[in-house]
Amino acid sequence: MSKKIKLGILGGGGDSLIGVLHRIASTMYDKYELIGGVFNPEIEESIKFAAEIGIGTDRIYKDLDHLISEEKKLPEEERIQVISVLTPNFLHFPMAKSLLENGFNVICEKPLTTTYEEAKILEKTLEKANTVFAVTYTYTGYPMVRQMRNLIADDRLGKIQKVDVQYYQGWINPIIHDEEKRANTWRLQPEKAGISCCIGDIGTHAFDMIEYVSGLEVKKVLADLNYLYEDNKLDIDGTILLRFSEYVKGVIRTSQIATAEENNLTVAIYGEKAGLKWEQENPNYLYLIEDGEPVKVLKPGHEYNGKLSLDGTKLPPGHPEGIFDSMGNIYKGVARAVNGEEYDPGEFPTLKDGKRGMNFIEKAVESHQKGNIWVEIDE
Ligand SMILES: NC(=O)c1ccc[n+]([C@@H]2O[C@H](COP(=O)([O-])OP(=O)(O)OC[C@H]3O[C@@H](n4cnc5c(N)ncnc54)[C@H](O)[C@@H]3O)[C@@H](O)[C@H]2O)c1
Repeated sequence: MSKKIKLGILGGGGDSLIGVLHRIASTMYDKYELIGGVFNPEIEESIKFAAEIGIGTDRIYKDLDHLISEEKKLPEEERIQVISVLTPNFLHFPMAKSLLENGFNVICEKPLTTTYEEAKILEKTLEKANTVFAVTYTYTGYPMVRQMRNLIADDRLGKIQKVDVQYYQGWINPIIHDEEKRANTWRLQPEKAGISCCIGDIGTHAFDMIEYVSGLEVKKVLADLNYLYEDNKLDIDGTILLRFSEYVKGVIRTSQIATAEENNLTVAIYGEKAGLKWEQENPNYLYLIEDGEPVKVLKPGHEYNGKLSLDGTKLPPGHPEGIFDSMGNIYKGVARAVNGEEYDPGEFPTLKDGKRGMNFIEKAVESHQKGNIWVEIDE
């Protein structure tokens, strides 16, 4: 009998963007075995896909209710243990809640839910379930992002004074100007995406990244969002000022109409003594800048990196670590938690992080709608 963790997946079928990333990531450290799930709302499509990727079709279910009732009939040691929720946003909450109520460990895509209220309910449900819950803010798994967190925790920058995170994409540009295309894109539909497109989809990654690497908590936001067309219901661009305290401030600049940009997430954190800069499209280089010093370029796998960063590197220096590795590191952390092993809190984002992300989205939209005013983020 395999000792690997039994994994199920909801969504993430052959027609999806993110499914392949989770499937490959789950295999990276030989910790999981994909057993089944519901890859698609049509069972025939799910079964076809299972056959395509070479897993048995006997534990492919019509929907989540069937998955839960059938899995619970099995002896505990045979049941699926962890379920990844990779569906469009509006399904995260009902699926995750039902999974927790039935004792499953959950890996959920971001944004955690479609409302902050739902996130708070999930938090209460998790308290009762006492299982493991991770939210895949994927970029936190990169070795050099983890090294940023290490260096800032070790006070390498001194007191942080300024934070600037940019997350620019351009893929909505050709969609937004075409009425038919924008009507068929779920990320632009409130009933599927929630109250935001850009802030919910990528602004929330930027927000989490800031809190993950800096250890600071955003206290207030002031947002100026752009919808581009009168009849377009969800934001597709936004600039959000951040207040951490009276003298510590920052900005998130985010857009999905930054024409021809791909996945340009860049993070810059400036302290009294030094600054750190990192770019998602070149994730193996972390730049350390200091007055009067040449720029230092830190890279993965070297002994000068901290334990958390080194733990996320599989090969010697010079072998680039990419997005699959980053997600693989998150899955590894979850595996440790599920197996009751010790792990560093930086190994995977939690439901609390996902809940803060939901609060951020709602507060950014509220700030914009009330005329670009400062709005407080909850504790
Ligand atoms: N962490 C990241 O960097 C990242 C990147 C991309 C997407 N995402 C998130 O992942 C989620 C999915 O995004 P995507 O781009 O892959 O979406 P997608 O539209 O490409 O794929 C959605 C998948 O869910 C399936 N699905 C829909 N309804 C279902 C149901 N009722 N039961 C089972 N399966 C169902 C679809 O068939 C499809 O396979 C979103 O919440 C998104 O925000 C995260």
